[in-house]
Amino acid sequence: MKITSIKAWQIFDSRGLPTLEAEVTLASGARGRGLVPSGASKGQFEALELRDADPKRFRGKSVFKAIANIENQIFPALCGANAFDQEALDRMLIEFDGTPNKSRLGANAILAVSMGVANAAATMRNEPLHSYLSEGRGSLLPIPEIQIIGGGAHANWRTDVQDFLVIATGARNLEEVMEVTHNVYHAAGDILRSRKKYFGVADEGGYWPEFERNEDALDLLVEAICRAGYTPGREASIALDIAASDLYSVEKGRYRFNLENREFTSSEFIGVIADWCDRFPIVSIEDPLADTDWDGWHEIIGTLGSSIQIVGDDLFTTNAQRISTGIEKCAANAVLIKLNQIGTVTEAIEAIRLAQSAGWQPIVSARSGETEDAFISHLAVATNAGQLKVGSFSRSERMVKWNELLRIQRDLGARAEFIGFSKARQVRERKRE
Ligand code: PGA
Ligand code: ZN
Repeated sequence: MKITSIKAWQIFDSRGLPTLEAEVTLASGARGRGLVPSGASKGQFEALELRDADPKRFRGKSVFKAIANIENQIFPALCGANAFDQEALDRMLIEFDGTPNKSRLGANAILAVSMGVANAAATMRNEPLHSYLSEGRGSLLPIPEIQIIGGGAHANWRTDVQDFLVIATGARNLEEVMEVTHNVYHAAGDILRSRKKYFGVADEGGYWPEFERNEDALDLLVEAICRAGYTPGREASIALDIAASDLYSVEKGRYRFNLENREFTSSEFIGVIADWCDRFPIVSIEDPLADTDWDGWHEIIGTLGSSIQIVGDDLFTTNAQRISTGIEKCAANAVLIKLNQIGTVTEAIEAIRLAQSAGWQPIVSARSGETEDAFISHLAVATNAGQLKVGSFSRSERMVKWNELLRIQRDLGARAEFIGFSKARQVRERKRE
């Protein structure tokens, strides 16, 4: 089924910043859109997000060059190509760009087209995207990781740690996950309101972090879980995204908590995290160390890796080469997967497969700047990834992903599987042994 047209426009993300939408049309008239998200705490090894850098337009953030690249370069190259061969098309895009980080055409331009092709092909087949991408083999509903408090780059550095999240570790199905999350999220809001510390929400819909120490947010999470009627560590547990690259000075070789005016060597920082893990029901930590501190990553896996999910986001940037290095160095046991860190659907799926083949946990993830699109909910199910992280339990650019997951569950009917957090960990451990 041939591609007959690709058009692109500037749209706006959940922060009101410019981003891209591409629309791919096939010979049958079937159409598919690709909407590109955008990060704030970006990893230095991510594929390049092409912005115009013209201070006179949209404060330098417009994406008209990327749009022109789609219409004047990518479309002529893909015109007439078979939309059902996603992998071949993505490889053409990678080669046509020709740079290691997609800086010639822009990863945002390339990804918009890659996602648009997948959506157009699924529409053409009259299949939901998850089923099209997996040829009907995707059936595992991912366990959501849901932000309760947002900090770091998403809340003007009010806390150093970026995400304080919960995982419904005791849930037996997706409905229970939603109920536990709903109850904990609103209990946390009630507590903040009663203490006159409710100041609205941060970029991903989690509460604005009004705390004296990073650890105070952990206390609040435990309290919210109890207030909601659950036992911390049983029905609901804690996950963190420290986004530590943002806290690290390469020159000094030190991590810094500005909020508490404290500095740490890599080993001391691991000590702080290990102490939190002793005292709080933490099950997962993302980017506990900086993306250049490979020795630190290796050390933390030795200290915590047998009991805690250690997730590389900025460390890997969804890049198969970096993930392979991580596997060799035994530097993590889970990988965050963000489509726009790498720039094509095929490479994101490849990164998921690579993690799975090493017995690592892939976690499909949104960005802090999101759109109304729910592609990633389908991607998570299509790849049987097992975990999904899209921010909090409020604001429609977040809820659209959770709501879509519920729709996918209905669509899968009896084929839908849910194995929850602990069982999934056991399965992976057996695989690693
Ligand atoms: P970002 O944050 O989208 O701003 O990079 C999300 C994350 O770090 O997981
Ligand atoms: Zn992260």
